[in-house]
Amino acid sequence: MKHYHHFLLLALSCFTCLGCSTPLTKSTELHTSAEPPLPALETRNGRSVLLVDGKPFLMLCAQTNNSSNAPLALPSVWQSVASLKANTLQIPISWEQIEPTENQFDFSFVDTLLQQAQEKNIRVVPLWFGAFKNTSPSFAPAWVKLDNARFPRMVRQDGDNHYALSPHSEALFEAELKAFKAFMKHLKKVDPQHRVIMVQVENEVGVYGLVRDHSAMANSAFSEIVPVSLTDKLGLPQGTWQSVFSNNADEAFTAYAFARYVGGLAEAGREILDLPMYTNAALRHPTKAQQPGQYASGGPTHNVLDIWKAAAPALDMLSPDIYLAGSQDYKAVLDLYSRPDNPLFVSETGASANFPRYFFEALGKGAVGFSPFGIDDADYKVMPSGVSGYKQDDINAFAANYALIADGSSEWARLGFENGIWGAARGDDNKPRHFDLGDWHAKISFDEWPFGYRAWLPANSKGLKNANEFNNAGLLITKINETTFLATGTNARIEFSADPKALPGEKAIFVSVEEVKFQNGEWVFQRMWNGDQTDYGLNFTTLNKTFRITLASYPAKNDSRSKPKSY
Ligand code: DGJ
Repeated sequence: MKHYHHFLLLALSCFTCLGCSTPLTKSTELHTSAEPPLPALETRNGRSVLLVDGKPFLMLCAQTNNSSNAPLALPSVWQSVASLKANTLQIPISWEQIEPTENQFDFSFVDTLLQQAQEKNIRVVPLWFGAFKNTSPSFAPAWVKLDNARFPRMVRQDGDNHYALSPHSEALFEAELKAFKAFMKHLKKVDPQHRVIMVQVENEVGVYGLVRDHSAMANSAFSEIVPVSLTDKLGLPQGTWQSVFSNNADEAFTAYAFARYVGGLAEAGREILDLPMYTNAALRHPTKAQQPGQYASGGPTHNVLDIWKAAAPALDMLSPDIYLAGSQDYKAVLDLYSRPDNPLFVSETGASANFPRYFFEALGKGAVGFSPFGIDDADYKVMPSGVSGYKQDDINAFAANYALIADGSSEWARLGFENGIWGAARGDDNKPRHFDLGDWHAKISFDEWPFGYRAWLPANSKGLKNANEFNNAGLLITKINETTFLATGTNARIEFSADPKALPGEKAIFVSVEEVKFQNGEWVFQRMWNGDQTDYGLNFTTLNKTFRITLASYPAKNDSRSKPKSY
């Protein structure tokens, strides 16, 4: 029993360290002033964590509808936030709202919002809707969007105006910069407690139906040498846009312009108040071939992430808005946007019944946050996000998932950052998933009967539901130490086995399965799980359970469990 030798020691050390929150940074350790430290993203060994008040923080977000940035919408917003059990609200703050007349600023809504957020103890991520909202200038003030001479639109090849403003326009950038800086200065003044933990800069930039601006100004920039700072960072030879990027030159040129624009706002904003900043992406399909112009081209789509990373270092994250329903597509997007240089944040996702399960998958990819879109009651059908007004059943499924980790979310974030999180959503194929946890393997299944295996039962057995009836199904595991794990989930089973390389000829057994709850800064033991409740793995139903699982092994060749005679 290899693991019994050190089990006691490990158990002791895990019990003593569970409640403690290891300081993650020097600045955290050294912080002494009364004002809490600034929120910050930290990345180590390819894993990231958001620190809020110096502690790991997992953003369990709710995003409002686009027109909910008004005091009259807030009662419904707060009701939805509470119903969702979210800890973070994403809500637009638009340029037209704070600077309706040039140089005259109005931050009254920001103040109302922050005051109410403080009362409700909810963190806020303002969505800065500036010159580009889903690529269009709809949220820019009228004095901007109507003055084509001063703020030119992109020009098509035939010389006609396109709907989107040009990201090459210095005048536009300067005007928006003034507004964004005023907003950041205001935050710095009114929010010393950092109710605002992060800022989204613009919303789904890029351009549809055109790949680059063909104005004289843009044509002249396009004929120049690609800035050496970009080619150097990308490891590409010097040359014109056309010679360096050949067929992709138009898109690369536009991506660079947008990255400089959005990154420039972020950089100036952070000089005033150094909050984490990101921008969100309207996706290019992760696997299907799509031509530039068919998607928001020049935005932070997966094919131009390197350009964005090089040209906009002030943005911590380029974050996917995921409305793709299929599990393979969803996972592909998570893979594309979780990189060591790009902490994953699912900045928007569909709010219909299909999407709550992806919470597990996103956290398993190390996401620092997850956000269903349009959760407040605007009685508005938004497609393809699948939001049909306010559907309480769907909100309840997100809420149930958030509730699984809400109390211990800081600990989940800390353990995930230090030791990793493994997460699986039920895939459309209902197939089991397998995780390598070091000395142990975990098999996650979504299609099982709590007391045995589906394969043992005659087909169509009464009472045995099909897995796809459990649309919201998924599981999360994190590691406390090499033999002790935390797991929670819904409509899923976890079974452990010994890794044949690390523990050859060994069979895994539970030393203990403790139901725990996070209370007053530590995991508090509730009761042991054993017998029927553990004989066929740990089965998570719709009840909110977290287990602390301690594993050991003993020598045995056959690791399989056969159907009992009495079954
Ligand atoms: C993505 C945008 O970022 C949101 O503001 C909203 O327009 C949704 N699409 C609607 O599906």
